[in-house]
Amino acid sequence: MKPIPIILSAFALSMASSAVMADVTSPPHATILLNVSPANSDLTNRGAYIARAADCMACHREDYSGGVAIETPIGNIYSTNITPSTRYGIGNYTESDFKKALKKGRAPTHQLYPAMPYPSYHDINDGDISALFAYFQTVPPVEMAPDKTTHLPFPLNIRTLMLAWNVINVPSTENRSGLAQMQQRGEYLVNNLEHCGTCHTPRNLTQGLDKDKYLSGAPLGKWYAPNITPDNDSGIGRWSEQDIVTYLRTGMLHQRAYAGGPMAEAVAHSTRYLSDEDLSAMASYLKVVPIIKTDDNVSPIDTARLPRPVSSSITYNLIEQKDHLAQAKTSINGETNNNASNSPKALYLANCGSCHGVDGYAQPDARYASIVGLSSIRREKPDALINVIAYGAKGALNTAPKMPGFEKELTHAQIASISNYVRVTFGGLPSSDVSAADVKRILK
Ligand code: HEC
Ligand code: HEC
Ligand code: HEC
Repeated sequence: MKPIPIILSAFALSMASSAVMADVTSPPHATILLNVSPANSDLTNRGAYIARAADCMACHREDYSGGVAIETPIGNIYSTNITPSTRYGIGNYTESDFKKALKKGRAPTHQLYPAMPYPSYHDINDGDISALFAYFQTVPPVEMAPDKTTHLPFPLNIRTLMLAWNVINVPSTENRSGLAQMQQRGEYLVNNLEHCGTCHTPRNLTQGLDKDKYLSGAPLGKWYAPNITPDNDSGIGRWSEQDIVTYLRTGMLHQRAYAGGPMAEAVAHSTRYLSDEDLSAMASYLKVVPIIKTDDNVSPIDTARLPRPVSSSITYNLIEQKDHLAQAKTSINGETNNNASNSPKALYLANCGSCHGVDGYAQPDARYASIVGLSSIRREKPDALINVIAYGAKGALNTAPKMPGFEKELTHAQIASISNYVRVTFGGLPSSDVSAADVKRILK
């Protein structure tokens, strides 16, 4: 039985960034938009809401036709068609088949990879499974196979190996005792339906979730899902419950935080649709999860150091914003420094100012992101900011235009220089000393 551990650790690699998703929009078929099922019965509507809360769309597409790549270092795992098509989807599933697939990763003919988050779904209750199953009977069938399917190399293509993996890693979370009723609901949402830990909890050696480091932050491809335990320095201990609710509802928190990457997808497809009660339940639970300190400290917000908007009307007046930018650029060129065009401020104005504004406040009303005070620019580790500058963001919250990546346009020294400028000017940090070597290391 010796090969098993080796193969399991190969899986470890394969699941390393299991939740980094490709574009899920662009369905060629009908789109399901609201929290109601086409059948509109109480049971199926409840199922539609649970499908939102469990974020099935993030991976199976808005019309559930599948084919979305879950990126892994050894190749992509593609989601499948879960519409009621009997030929291409799950139309032949019984409710018991459906339950086994969701809770045990056991499809009728094969074992699933944990890119499908069954280790989290394992504790979904039977009532919710029935409602989900009823709902999936009512979505329009897509009579087409996904254009891409999973082909992992040997031995990773031996799906039954997941049975051994499951013994160690399923279920991926434990329920706590002594929680108030509302917190129990929050725990169920966070752990099971929303599977927040698949991104925010670090992985163990076999790449299952590391329960001892529950929700304390984990790398995610070019992003990093931060520590969301209630630690004051490295987590979200300074956030109020209402802050958490606002962030999950809108993807942003004024002068504090912004969901621009994978979190934006979670907000866009799932959390913004939840009821106030459910968002409050999650917030209340996140306040009582065990505190874990990590070294990814965020400097507390110092509002006195944040810039003032250059104009009181600027957040909605694009033309005025353009004038301010032109003025700021001219005044820099007039400065006697002969290296003016490469000064940190000039680099910021030239590359970032057209969208984020001279003052960083940008155009939130026009869905341009304000970057003033964001947690991503107040972290001791500049990784998140540098990755955003290099690779851009997809605009999952319908921002216009999307943020481009500057990996090719800017040198490492220029990215470092802009990072320092942004961290001090808009993040309110007393100082910042990101170097070209740091940028090189982070982008490697
Ligand atoms: C994080 C991504 C992700 C989420 C969220 C997700 N799935 Fe999946 N799902 C997958 C992937 C990937 C596969 C294919 C796995 C494989 O090939 O081993 C899959 C497979 C399945 C299957 C097996 C279908 C078959 O026979 O091939 C079912 C059923 C399913 N998902 C239902 C759901 C439902 C219902 C939800 C929401 C409650 C959901 N999934 C949420 C990624 C996801
Ligand atoms: C697909 C991966 C993914 C999922 C699922 C996910 N997150 Fe996130 N989350 C991230 C990433 C990455 C960030 C960093 C910001 C970004 O991506 O825009 C983040 C940021 C956050 C932040 C802001 C932290 C800060 O310091 O700014 C909070 C709070 C948060 N997530 C809570 C949650 C909760 C609660 C859930 C479950 C409902 C959840 N996340 C699900 C990836 C994810
Ligand atoms: C074409 C417009 C545009 C340009 C140019 C641009 N950005 Fe952005 N930026 C955006 C948008 C839109 C978002 C919100 C991203 C999203 O929702 O996907 C954003 C988000 C951000 C964020 C927040 C990310 C997070 O998750 O916390 C930072 C920081 C940022 N930009 C910095 C910069 C810097 C520095 C530059 C210059 C090197 C720059 N941007 C250039 C449009 C732009």
